[in-house]
Amino acid sequence: MPVTVQGICHRWLILLRASPVDPMRGYNRRLSSPTESSLPMYTLARQLLFKLSPETSHDLSLDLIGAGGRLGLNGLLCKAPAKLPVTVMGLEFPNPVGLAAGLDKNGAAIDGFAQLGFGFVEIGTITPRPQPGNPKPRIFRLPDAEAIINRMGFNNLGVDHLLARVAAAKYKGVLGINIGKNFDTPVERAVDDYLICLDKVYAHASYVTVNVSSPNTPGLRSLQFGDSLKQLLADLATRRAELALRHGKHVPLAIKIAPDMTDEETAQVAQALIETGMDAVIATNTTLSRVGVEGMEHGDEAGGLSGAPVRDKSTHTVKVLAAELAGRLPIIAVGGITEGKHAAEKIAAGASLVQLYSGFIYKGPALIRESVDAIAALR
Ligand SMILES: Cc1cc2nc3c(=O)[nH]c(=O)nc-3n(C[C@H](O)[C@H](O)[C@H](O)COP(=O)(O)O)c2cc1C
Repeated sequence: MPVTVQGICHRWLILLRASPVDPMRGYNRRLSSPTESSLPMYTLARQLLFKLSPETSHDLSLDLIGAGGRLGLNGLLCKAPAKLPVTVMGLEFPNPVGLAAGLDKNGAAIDGFAQLGFGFVEIGTITPRPQPGNPKPRIFRLPDAEAIINRMGFNNLGVDHLLARVAAAKYKGVLGINIGKNFDTPVERAVDDYLICLDKVYAHASYVTVNVSSPNTPGLRSLQFGDSLKQLLADLATRRAELALRHGKHVPLAIKIAPDMTDEETAQVAQALIETGMDAVIATNTTLSRVGVEGMEHGDEAGGLSGAPVRDKSTHTVKVLAAELAGRLPIIAVGGITEGKHAAEKIAAGASLVQLYSGFIYKGPALIRESVDAIAALR
């Protein structure tokens, strides 16, 4: 169905009529008492959305946020965050709280997310060619743990489609484009896919994120180690130098890493980033660990775990990076921010910016402002 006002109303009607029999009963008990972070309106919307399968509710939310953005309505949904300007990677951010990659993989709702108050928006992960991702179901909610397990597998419509969405967006703020490899490109040829994407997105991105940390593309995480990482980063740096000349601008490159490395491995990544002239590191992607969700429904699903259970692991990675980098490269922290104070913890651990994903699903847009306020209180 095309995304028109009528279409949106129709979808809301479907939502309102959704079965009152909710498999997430335990969660709904908690929904009756909204937390500080969730506005009553979002609490109601979430109650309705959580009656649908995670992927259906994801698609519907994206449609609604996108349509709200096109109509310029999303700013009315929540109080705008305070201004908290910060300059990182040579870019100016109105506030340090961004949207993490994966929520808007195809750039379908860039204006909509920006209007909710995010200080920057990261879209992707995008691959050179469109691909369907893994079979459904492939997202699972673990509400008692404020967590999600996903094994989406980079389902996306391809880089050309994404660029058309970027061109259609009115947003003029900081836009990150997160790039990856197609599932059927052998990992030894992964660099080819990253370079294809880098070439195409370069002129349109404020920064480009190189995703080497998704657990759902076989072999991808091996690119985080040793010579594979150094070679990939060196090739990206060489191509970036050519692109900078061609386009007359330096687009920062950020590398997104997993929380599942040893401290020594994380420190080695930090050194490789410095040596190859990268501009930032994003810590972290989802974890393969199941600590914190053992015995829960869906707790043993394959995929990456995000939300509250990854928080401490992620923050630990930020601390290890901060010690190793000693200010030479900024850190963008993501993982388990479900309350404002967690965003402040990430900044205190050494990050310059933060991103939200699972916390945004559980707490809604109010978490953006709450995070900005908590970070502002550190100053
Ligand atoms: C359903 C889902 C899809 C995701 N897809 C991507 C992706 O395509 N690329 C990426 O770099 N990270 C992706 N992520 C990881 C998030 O960007 C983030 O790094 C991770 O979830 C930890 O943050 P959180 O605890 O706030 O969710 C995804 C996460 C989820 C839950």
